[in-house]
Amino acid sequence: MMKSFQWILFAFELLCLTSPILCDSIKEHYIPEDLNGSNFTYPWPVKLYEFSTQHNQTLEMAFMDVAPTGTPNNKTALLTHGKNFCGPTWNATAIILAQAGYRVILPDQIGFCKSSKPDSYQFSLQQLAHNTMGLLTILGIESVTLVGHSMGGMLATRFSLMYPANVTELVLVNPIGLEDWKALGVPWQPLDTSWATELKSNYTTIRAYEQSTYYVNTWNTTYDVWVNMLNNIYHGSEAKKFTYNQAQTTDMVLTQPVVYEFPILKTKTLLMIGDQDNTAIGKAWSPPDVQAKIGHYNVLGKQVAAMINGSTLIEFPDLGHAPQIQEPDTFHAALMGWLTE
Ligand SMILES: *[C@@H]1O[C@H](CO)[C@@H](O)[C@H](O)[C@H]1NC(C)=O
Ligand SMILES: *[C@@H]1O[C@H](CO)[C@@H](O)[C@H](O)[C@H]1NC(C)=O
Ligand SMILES: *[C@@H]1O[C@H](CO)[C@@H](O)[C@H](O)[C@H]1NC(C)=O
Ligand SMILES: *[C@@H]1O[C@H](CO)[C@@H](O)[C@H](O)[C@H]1NC(C)=O
Ligand SMILES: *[C@@H]1O[C@H](CO)[C@@H](O)[C@H](O)[C@H]1NC(C)=O
Ligand SMILES: *[C@@H]1O[C@H](CO)[C@@H](O)[C@H](O)[C@H]1NC(C)=O
Ligand SMILES: *[C@@H]1O[C@H](CO)[C@@H](O)[C@H](O)[C@H]1NC(C)=O
Ligand SMILES: *[C@@H]1O[C@H](CO)[C@@H](O)[C@H](O)[C@H]1NC(C)=O
Ligand SMILES: *[C@@H]1O[C@H](CO)[C@@H](O)[C@H](O)[C@H]1NC(C)=O
Repeated sequence: MMKSFQWILFAFELLCLTSPILCDSIKEHYIPEDLNGSNFTYPWPVKLYEFSTQHNQTLEMAFMDVAPTGTPNNKTALLTHGKNFCGPTWNATAIILAQAGYRVILPDQIGFCKSSKPDSYQFSLQQLAHNTMGLLTILGIESVTLVGHSMGGMLATRFSLMYPANVTELVLVNPIGLEDWKALGVPWQPLDTSWATELKSNYTTIRAYEQSTYYVNTWNTTYDVWVNMLNNIYHGSEAKKFTYNQAQTTDMVLTQPVVYEFPILKTKTLLMIGDQDNTAIGKAWSPPDVQAKIGHYNVLGKQVAAMINGSTLIEFPDLGHAPQIQEPDTFHAALMGWLTE
């Protein structure tokens, strides 16, 4: 026979199963500096969104919630990070949006940065979008100006397709997913092969990749902080789980294209494209003729802008994959110009 407290517990669990959102919570008490394998010092206090997901796992999404510093405009900006970045990479952009009156939400996705690194998780863009929507729901935020960079842009596209009523504007900053790499010939790579590559990552390999892909073969010491932030996780206390999660999210972006759905996007969209970017998932393990075909952002920006109803395209002819880091002033003037027009 079950005792009464067991019945109460059972009833609560049943409630959580039928309406999981009721059992989600925000934790903002003591948050350790070394959190889920990242000891990077974040520019604002870190909070944790705890929720139940996939086979009753309790996971935590770390996020920052920045209050407006200028006169509030009653809008919220949600900024989603790229695969090699974390919430803090949006630091400068968040400061400018807060000055313009926005509340700014900066999440770290599950598997990344200061968020949980699950041993077992079915990674999909839909799942990450759903998790992010759960965070907005518990914070009571109904609609957002959504700004996504790199993988965060691909995620922001998926998020807007799933929740068109909750995204007032969409800004894609050198998003990945502007083409379907597998359809263009990139072979599928087993996760353990990707994992083996991930395990070899260090400061030198990360910097070399970012220099040639993100920064048009230049280097500025201001880029180092982001290499160190990432390298720290690769060699931190959760390195084994993190590197496997990275292999899983590589597989996620390769196998789950968004490019076919740009024509059905309903959201007002701005594409911000550094034309010198040459990012393409799987390029490193593709044959030369496939490598030559993919990652041409000077072509992709225009191509995708033409697919999105009423979109605006802003190109930066001389910049690479991360215009907001490479030329923050130019980037922010363009972003704020469009948001306030
Ligand atoms: C984080 O860890 C790295 C590598 O162990 C160390 O060099 C660095 O000082 C640590 N940073 C902080 C803020 O604890
Ligand atoms: C989730 O937890 C509930 C309550 O403990 C349990 O009844 C249920 O079987 C679990 N579901 C799965 C898929 O393990
Ligand atoms: C924001 O909301 C407050 C309270 O509802 C209102 O007084 C203020 O005028 C609004 N500001 C803008 C810019 O809409
Ligand atoms: C965030 O920006 C502020 C102001 O420019 C700077 O002092 C701080 O070092 C930055 N932090 C990170 C993590 O970039
Ligand atoms: C992430 O960190 C939090 C806070 O320390 C901890 O409660 C949680 O168990 C960690 N998550 C995982 C999956 O290790
Ligand atoms: C999303 O927008 C719709 C339409 O405005 C609204 O009914 C819904 O509550 C919003 N979702 C959240 C989580 O706020
Ligand atoms: C990183 O690894 C490469 C080989 O994979 C090695 O040549 C290089 O010295 C390493 N760099 C550091 C900083 O450990
Ligand atoms: C490095 O970046 C900063 C900030 O964008 C800029 O002020 C500086 O001129 C750059 N340095 C070089 C050598 O390009
Ligand atoms: C394109 O957008 C306009 C205005 O936002 C709208 O009236 C029109 O129906 C849209 N066209 C399609 C094909 O969705």
